[in-house]
Amino acid sequence: MDFSLSEEQLMLRDTVRRFVEKEIRPNVEELDQKEEYPHEIMKKIFAQGFTNLNIPEEYGGPGVDPLTALIITEEIARGCAAVATSSSCNSLATYPILTGGNEEQKQRFLRPLAEEGKYASFCLTEPGAGSDVAGLATVARKQGDKYILNGRKQFITSANVAQYLTVFCRTGEEKGHKSISALVVDRESPGVSIGRQEKKMGLRASTTCEVIFEEVEVPAANLLGSEGLGFKLSMETLDKARPTTGAMALGMAQAALEAAVYYAKERVQFGKPIAQQQAVQMILADMAMKVETARLLVYKAGYLMAKGLPFTKESAMSKCYAADIAMEVTTDAVQIFGGYGYTRDYPVEKYMRDAKIMQIYEGTNQIQRVVIAKELVHS
Ligand code: CAA
Repeated sequence: MDFSLSEEQLMLRDTVRRFVEKEIRPNVEELDQKEEYPHEIMKKIFAQGFTNLNIPEEYGGPGVDPLTALIITEEIARGCAAVATSSSCNSLATYPILTGGNEEQKQRFLRPLAEEGKYASFCLTEPGAGSDVAGLATVARKQGDKYILNGRKQFITSANVAQYLTVFCRTGEEKGHKSISALVVDRESPGVSIGRQEKKMGLRASTTCEVIFEEVEVPAANLLGSEGLGFKLSMETLDKARPTTGAMALGMAQAALEAAVYYAKERVQFGKPIAQQQAVQMILADMAMKVETARLLVYKAGYLMAKGLPFTKESAMSKCYAADIAMEVTTDAVQIFGGYGYTRDYPVEKYMRDAKIMQIYEGTNQIQRVVIAKELVHS
């Protein structure tokens, strides 16, 4: 077993790290306070080729392997998890196109993202359908060579800036997952509107919006695969995307650990740095073990994806575990900073606020455990 990264991966990791130190870290506080889409940073990330990481070169993308993509995401999240969420949003929206789309659709939808820096959003969740995807209610009825789309999506990342929306909707009468289909919708189509932008606890440099569809005409040529394929496409997408959330959680946990170690070496109490107190050392050691274990799981999921091996279980494990430890490690970091950690003068309160969503989005950590258990029991 070889645990080392390739020369190319190490070089790329260093390049991303330098970029993050120069372009993201100095702006983190402002980005968090503004609570807006990070347009300028996103343009720079795009120019560097650190986004659209799942899009192959043949459609204009960087064509990196899944493990390398996770390493890049981890490094961006080490700077700011909200920026990492914004920069990985296109991947979530485009996995269904890559998996279920035909050649013409791939050329039409992927190139503007990969070559012109446009954005796309994944529209699955609804006000009444979060964990229960098969309960979604958005409807597309066929009318000649188009669909008429009606419904409402909730908590959609980057919807306010997206050109394309990958929308999961019902195209048949049957209840449950079998009548769900996936359509790519141009956000500028008449009848599409962006509703409320959520005010969030954390992850504030990523926008989260409601999307409303009222009698929206969508060309039938925008249907991915065939009618009824949508649920499967959404599940396959989430399988592929969850390690990315794991990598984000890992990146922020790493940042929290580094901040805690740095501070513990500086902060003097009882006549010596608190890093010399065993009580603090115990906390730091546990934090480091959790970060390292999460990294092994996240990288293993990337390795399995790169090899084309089954990875549903490991994908859920990597997301679930990394998100849980990110919550724990960022909370411990605040503890080590003491009263200062609870103020906005230090970065750790933001890490803690940002960590919470990692246990919720891309499937709650309870859903991840359902997925893991299903794999254990049924395979
Ligand atoms: N790959 C391929 N097919 C799959 C699959 C997978 N991973 N998982 C299930 N399926 C198939 C099953 O084989 C089954 O197929 P058949 O009908 O042919 O037998 C079918 O799908 C139904 O499977 P289940 O009975 O297991 O489905 P379920 O209704 O019980 O749901 C679930 C399973 C795991 C709970 C699923 O609903 C789920 O993952 N929920 C969480 C949703 C989620 O993650 N939402 C996050 C939204 S995105 C986001 O948060 C990002 C953002 O932008 C903020």
